[in-house]
Amino acid sequence: MSVWAILVAAGRGERLGLEQPKAFAKLGEDPLLAEPLRRLDECEWIDALVVVAPPGWEEPAILLAEELGCAKVSECVAGGATRTDSVRAGLAAVPEDALVVLVHDAARPFVSDEVVGRVLAPLSEGWDGAIPGLPVPDTLKRVDGDGAVRETVSRDGLWAVQTPQAFLADALRRAYARAGDATDCAALVEAAGGRVKVVEGDPRLLKVTTTADLERVASWL
Ligand code: C5P
Repeated sequence: MSVWAILVAAGRGERLGLEQPKAFAKLGEDPLLAEPLRRLDECEWIDALVVVAPPGWEEPAILLAEELGCAKVSECVAGGATRTDSVRAGLAAVPEDALVVLVHDAARPFVSDEVVGRVLAPLSEGWDGAIPGLPVPDTLKRVDGDGAVRETVSRDGLWAVQTPQAFLADALRRAYARAGDATDCAALVEAAGGRVKVVEGDPRLLKVTTTADLERVASWL
């Protein structure tokens, strides 16, 4: 089967407070984008890659892929205003004969072969999609704007989900052909009637949002 990966890197990352987009924030010596790009390119399960760059940053993204010697990068396209728009732009660059599409956030640099293997396995067992997640360890409260606790929410059966998320290509295309916006791909596949399984995630798939996250991830290099 042919497995295509879409690496979404088009977010602005305003909370980092940098001039450049988040994907080009420095992580060690290289831009943040370099780490997930190299890891997905080297992953034996993945046949080809589409990179979704911030509009106007396609050229630097291609140059980076060339510098790193990433031979599987097929195309680099410009992202959109939302993550959903960016995934849709990436999906348009995936050929019709792809069987499986894996979508990964560049903001989660420490993607591993193990987690890619875990999300791909359920696709040959009748699932439309599989996503990594971790059970929520904390007590959850719904809180009003002024800080007043409205209710305590049971954490029973609640998982915090991550990327990479893997889907049968047809199921993902059907989901993205519909209108709608969501913070992950699985939500759109679920809304389109797809069956999605959660598999064991990885604490190292932390999403870089703040400078503190960037420093934490840099300490793992
Ligand atoms: O904004 P957030 O941190 O949830 O973004 C998750 C991932 O989606 C990041 O890798 C980011 O670059 C990407 N994204 C995108 N296009 C957008 C917004 C986010 O590719 N418009």
